Amino acid sequence: MSIRLGVNIDHVATLRNARGEKHPDPYLSAISALKFGADSITIHLREDRRHINEQDLKKISKNKKIPLNLEMAANDEMLKIAIKYKPNFVCIVPEKRKEITTEGGLNLSKNYKKIKKIIEDLNKNKIRTSLFIDPNIKDIKLAKKIGTNCVELHTGKISNQIKNKKNYFSELSKIKKCSVLANKFNIEVHAGHGMDYKTAKILKSVNLIEEFNIGHFIIGESIFYGMKKIIQNFKKIL
Ligand code: PXP
Repeated sequence: MSIRLGVNIDHVATLRNARGEKHPDPYLSAISALKFGADSITIHLREDRRHINEQDLKKISKNKKIPLNLEMAANDEMLKIAIKYKPNFVCIVPEKRKEITTEGGLNLSKNYKKIKKIIEDLNKNKIRTSLFIDPNIKDIKLAKKIGTNCVELHTGKISNQIKNKKNYFSELSKIKKCSVLANKFNIEVHAGHGMDYKTAKILKSVNLIEEFNIGHFIIGESIFYGMKKIIQNFKKIL
């Protein structure tokens, strides 16, 4: 199985928005990420538009060479936007206004009807669908009933455990069991949130996760790998 890497570029937009100007352009970062080997680009259009905005979505989705994964909340406004811009993939995520980042998976039992309807509408529009859920068996069974093409397992908890050198075996075992069941149901398994090199390496051992969506660490780490060239450029100019 060849594993795909999706690069989340929300943090490029965060940096751009810090100045309210145009640099760095998330669209150009998407082009670079693909040039350097990423398999797809993930953007999260949040209700409060704190990083990616609709103009970014418009520009990125217009370029059909960019395999685009749109993360969005389960509501009618976002459904309309997804059908308008037709990204290749949509991942439904929970959204709370005050959270710093997506803190947990979807509550599928509470929002079953609403999510099922959105997934059906997206499937009708030939958009690959995914649900961002915590790794638990109950939600894999609900995901199957909802009819999603994929699930993305929230890896925030295991990532924290690994980073803080805590025992992560029970969480890894949950992720494995969920992946096995999803696989049996013909649901593709993805992983996302909080990963770095070490977490990705450990999660790769599950062997059933086909897509890893990683953002913060890639953008953060790029500072260290890109800085040399930029400082040298300035030294030449000055
Ligand atoms: N996948 C989903 C569904 C997310 O919500 C996020 C975070 O926004 C990511 C992947 C990427 O997480 P990180 O930026 O921590 O790598």
